[in-house]
Amino acid sequence: MNIAVFASHGGSDLQAIIDGCKNNQINARVAVVISNNGDSMALQRAEAEGIPAYHLSAKKFGNEEALAAKILEILVRYNVEMIFLAGYMKMLHISVLEKYNNRIFNIHPALLPKFGGRGMYGMNVHKAVIEAKESETGVTIHRVNAEYDSGEIVAQTKVPVLENDTPEILAARVLDREHEFLVEVIVDIADGKIKLG
Ligand code: GRF
Repeated sequence: MNIAVFASHGGSDLQAIIDGCKNNQINARVAVVISNNGDSMALQRAEAEGIPAYHLSAKKFGNEEALAAKILEILVRYNVEMIFLAGYMKMLHISVLEKYNNRIFNIHPALLPKFGGRGMYGMNVHKAVIEAKESETGVTIHRVNAEYDSGEIVAQTKVPVLENDTPEILAARVLDREHEFLVEVIVDIADGKIKLG
């Protein structure tokens, strides 16, 4: 299975997917990496692994439609069958959502439907979890539709919130769990236990 990973920043989730493919845990390969941020570490990580990597933004192509057309052209070029959004900070255009319906997944660092939606990303999520005095948080992997964080949930795992956690400490604990969980869930997608399309 050919996977495209979209990422905007650190790309540590991307690295976990690449490593899971390289050590044959995941029966798939990362065929292409796309980022809306030219400075993203994700692009550097992909290049270091010899994976084609593209910086694609609306700014570069003039408008959202032209960007979507370019994204689709690349997805077709690399025979992409599944898209994983691993910290991609941009909504995908409807033309991409339609073409890859049910084949696009996102990872969110909390137990959706709690702590999701517009503005709920990065440290904002972990701050909100601590402020709400939750005793547990977690990781959600869901299908992507045209609204933030609201597609079908395909897998969730819990992570404890400890008494003296700061948002940063909690974020690190959740991210560690993401790296393992991503691999577990992509194994299930690649093996057909979680259905595509
Ligand atoms: C993770 O917290 C993920 O849940 C969120 O973005 C972060 C990605 O981190 N969607 P990284 O860029 O892969 O290091």
